[in-house]
Formats: sequence, C-alpha cells, structure tokens
Amino acid sequence: MIEARNLFHSYTHNDDYAVNDVSFDIKKGEIFGFLGPSGAGKSTTQGVLAGLLELQKGEIIIDGVPRKGHPDKAFFNRIGVGFERPNVYKKLTALDNLKFHASLYDRETEDPLTVLEWVGLADEAKKKAGAFSKGMMQRIGFARSMINKPDIWFLDEPTMGLDPSTANSIKGIIKRKKKEGTTIFLTTHNMFVADELCDRVAFIVDGKIVALDSPKNLKLKYGQPVVTVEYTENGKLASKTFSMAENNKGELQKFIGENEIKTIHSGEPTLEEIFIKLTGRGLE
Ligand SMILES: Nc1ncnc2c1ncn2[C@@H]1O[C@H](COP(=O)(O)OP(=O)(O)O)[C@@H](O)[C@H]1O
Ligand SMILES: [Mg+2]
Repeated sequence: MIEARNLFHSYTHNDDYAVNDVSFDIKKGEIFGFLGPSGAGKSTTQGVLAGLLELQKGEIIIDGVPRKGHPDKAFFNRIGVGFERPNVYKKLTALDNLKFHASLYDRETEDPLTVLEWVGLADEAKKKAGAFSKGMMQRIGFARSMINKPDIWFLDEPTMGLDPSTANSIKGIIKRKKKEGTTIFLTTHNMFVADELCDRVAFIVDGKIVALDSPKNLKLKYGQPVVTVEYTENGKLASKTFSMAENNKGELQKFIGENEIKTIHSGEPTLEEIFIKLTGRGLE
C-alpha cells in the first residue's frame, strides 16, 4: 500500500540527513512501527510520508502510484495524522475542534461526539480546550486524526505522556481500527507499545533503519532466550538463570540432572535489549 524507497530528508539542505536512505513497504491493514530514540528521524519520516514535509530525495509509492510533487487533495482526504505535539484550537470547545476539523474533508466523517466518547472526553465536550491538560489535548489530537475515517493513519507517539489506563484505551482504538482494515504507520520510543501493537517494526537510529521484522522474529533472530530454573538447595528455594546460547545447553541439562528442580520458565528478550544489542543505544 505504501512503498518508501531510499528516502532522504535534510532540514539544512546539506549532507546532514535526519532521514538517511530509508526504504520499507507497508501492507494494507498492517500496523507498521518505527521504534527508535529521540532524534532518530521518526517524526521526519512520518512528515515526509504524510506529505507535510517536502519529498527531497527518494520515492514514495501509494497503491502503486509514485508521488510527484505535493500530494493532491484526494490523498489528504484519506489520511489521518496524529502529531507528537497536537495543535488544538484553545478557544474552541473540544467538540467544536472536532466539528471544525470534520468540515475540512470531502468525505464521510465520524460523529465528533462519538469520537470524543471513544477517547474518554465526552463529559468535557462543551469545555474550551484551552483549559485542558496536556494529556487531554493529546486525546483531542488523536480523536481529530481519525475524524475522516482514514484509510492510512499516521500516529506519532500516540500514547506518550498518557496515564496507563488512557494509554490502554488509545491502544484499544488503534487495534480496533486495524481490524477494520486501516493501514497504520506508528512511531514510538516505547518498546512495549511497539511490541503490543505492531505487526512489523523497523528499528531506526540516526536516520537509518538497522533492523525490520515482526517483534517476534526480531526476538528469535537477535535475542538470546533464557531459562530460569527454581530448585531447592538445603531445604530453601533458589533460582538460577541460563542463557540458551548454543554453547550453553549442556550446562542447563547437567544442572537439571543434579538438582531438585521445582519450576522451569523460559523467557524472551525485550525489544529494547535487542535494540541495544544492534545499535549500542537505548530507546530514551
Ligand atoms: N524542524 C526541524 N528543523 C531542524 N532540525 C530538525 C527539525 N525537526 C527535527 N530536526 C532534527 O532532525 C533529527 C530527527 O528528528 P525527528 O524526526 O524529530 O526524530 P524523532 O521523531 O525520532 O525524535 C533530529 O536531529 C532533530 O534535531
Ligand atoms: Mg518524534
């Protein structure tokens, strides 16, 4: 559905690239994630894909059609864009923010009050957005980004700064939209969000993709599973963890043979552990 070929973007129009030769494909109905630390180039990539930043170099192909110049109105009608820092009209009520935004589209839109209900702001619908907390503004921005029932939905750090229960309801909406067939490009520096939501995730650092696969495959390919054994020693419960590296399997077998084993649990590495292994950098 979306093909990005050798994208570059420089804010300074020199060899200093915020996005540096990035290529990927996003399939219809897929949640495709960009996972990387602050400054990696996630928001810039989203801006270029969504047509909000100039396509300086490289190719963007939507449904088989290469983009030439600025995208047309038909494209903007079918996409939704959630920003890291949403711009909400503070003098308008929450409801009027959404009504105004809905009026900009030549397309069937969601009912603004219903969308406010989804994001837990129905009771605040008639209040001016200027009085809202940061998290509430973010929810309005999120609601706004889906008002035109987008086929392609761009979400930049959609749960950042939200309390866990609000973050969960936002994740629930994203999952539901995926089920309904929406194609989603999502950026995050949160490995849990990437792991839970994304069908495939690209690790991005310094403007470059360093790995790209499903979270599960990334763990299988790059992560070293571990096995933790609980056993009794002098009448007390103790535990020991073994790496499942090829050269280490005998050690676990020997230990099991020689001890009184109570439980055995296997564990998988986290996406952040793999990110660090591949890039030498954490996700903060
Ligand atoms: N408007 C801008 N002008 C100049 N440089 C920018 C601008 N926006 C981002 N950058 C720089 O581009 C790089 C990538 O930023 P960004 O795409 O925002 O990363 P991320 O979203 O992964 O945190 C960073 O080095 C950042 O400082
Ligand atoms: Mg960003």
